[in-house]
Amino acid sequence: MRIGVPKERDTQPLVGATPDTVKKLIALGYELVVQEGAGELSSYPDAQYEEAGARITTSETVWDSDIVLSLDEPTSEQLSMMREGSTLIARLAPARNPELIEAFARQGVTALAMDTVPRISRAQSMDVLSSMANVAGYRAIIEAASEFGRLFTGQVTAAGKMPPARVYVIGAGVAGLAAIGTASSMGAEVYATDVRPEVGEQVESMGASFVEIPAATEVSTDGYAKEMTTAQRDAALKLYTEQAAISDIVITTANIPGRKSPVLLTAEAVAGMKPGSVIVDMAAANGGNCELTVAGERVVTDNGVIILGITDLAGRLPAQSSQLYGQNIVNLLKLTTPEKDGNLVLDLEDEIVRGITVTKGGEIMWPPPPVKVSAAPTKAEAKPDPAVEAARVAQEAREAAAKKRNRFVWTLIAALLGAALVMVSPAPVLGHYMVLALAVIVGFYVITAVTHSLHTPLMSVTNAISGIILVGAILQVGSGNLLVSTLSFIAIVVASINIFGGFTVTHRMLAMFKKD
Ligand code: NAI
Repeated sequence: MRIGVPKERDTQPLVGATPDTVKKLIALGYELVVQEGAGELSSYPDAQYEEAGARITTSETVWDSDIVLSLDEPTSEQLSMMREGSTLIARLAPARNPELIEAFARQGVTALAMDTVPRISRAQSMDVLSSMANVAGYRAIIEAASEFGRLFTGQVTAAGKMPPARVYVIGAGVAGLAAIGTASSMGAEVYATDVRPEVGEQVESMGASFVEIPAATEVSTDGYAKEMTTAQRDAALKLYTEQAAISDIVITTANIPGRKSPVLLTAEAVAGMKPGSVIVDMAAANGGNCELTVAGERVVTDNGVIILGITDLAGRLPAQSSQLYGQNIVNLLKLTTPEKDGNLVLDLEDEIVRGITVTKGGEIMWPPPPVKVSAAPTKAEAKPDPAVEAARVAQEAREAAAKKRNRFVWTLIAALLGAALVMVSPAPVLGHYMVLALAVIVGFYVITAVTHSLHTPLMSVTNAISGIILVGAILQVGSGNLLVSTLSFIAIVVASINIFGGFTVTHRMLAMFKKD
């Protein structure tokens, strides 16, 4: 089959395939045609596509291919160039574009929406929304930093101390986490809030502090937020207002799929912010998380707060965004080209394929059935049968009693043996027994008080003790007394095992740090 890569409209700097992904598509058995100048705005000249094995051609040939890889929905003129039975792979926002879906069906085109890939682990490598949000989160911080009239990192200089910038991120999804990571790496003090309490750990692992909403919120089962109750919303708005007032940069990323973005920063909250503070409203294209955001514009409020409603953050880093988008498509085509023979096979039993299929030929397939996903472990709270539970408890009690009895019997045997040994031993040896008994008690408490992960370093110390034992035992082994010689010999063997075992383990641990 032939894949066509068109030149996008002037407002879209990204391209559906890069020279690198072209090579990968050719390896899957496809023939590639790329429209002249398609990669120009992403810094991929035509020559690089040719080198990768593609043919540079006209718009008509590209749109007349078996499969067209595009960024966004086609214009009606482009769609009219697509032949019946061909496939379009692009971001199509089908939930918002019912007329477009009908147009695809009329044209007999199979439309696959890259922006409806279900959020499940297996589909992560095809999730273009996450790829774009990741780049956008990074860029949001860069934009904020260039507007903010101060350093991000704190410094102590001869001329005085400069505190780090305080960054507050609302919504710790893909974009939010990328923004947190970028701001932390630039030296800012970062705080973040999300309605999903389960992301707190991720926020902290990125070097930020999680600021919880002081009202119970639910663990998400699909990785996306649900709408909040009135009590939660009030508590959240109060928190956002307080945090915004003490922050220098606020990044808002809150998003609820299929709905207009929730307003999190009211005009009043912005009025309480410091002059020179910057808000980057990443949800600007979907209505915005700040009441004063204007999509695509830079707004400066009366109190000197800058609000950026940038809607093309990923597009401001076009080379890498195109590469990520292209790789997401390669991953999808790997799934749908099982024989690697350049033939697209759409298996509608596969939940990923079904989730993105908007039309198949003339048939409308949207919306797909809901995908059963679970981003958080679900608590199977099945109540156990009381009879089974009682039997289990009784069995556990019996086992515990048997264990206790065994321990008592063995302790008694050991005590009797010890007493017998003391009675048959000559008087001068008794003092040594006392030392041995004390050493055993001290050793037991030292070792059990040390955590397992520190047992290896502890072994180095016991190696030193074993060294002393070894020296003592070597001195005693030649004594004429058979018992002393035998005990010395045993001591030499046991101490040697400890010493050489220690060396072996140390050697293996050091080998782990050696480069091949
Ligand atoms: P996501 O769904 O992974 O993350 C959104 C996060 O916001 C979730 O963790 C969710 O729990 C949280 N959230 C929802 N309501 C909230 C509330 N009231 N308070 C606190 N947290 C709340 O989405 P992703 O992929 O990170 O994208 C984030 C936003 O960035 C989206 O609106 C997306 O459209 C936008 N975006 C904007 C770009 C631009 O150029 N401006 C580029 C890419 C994405």
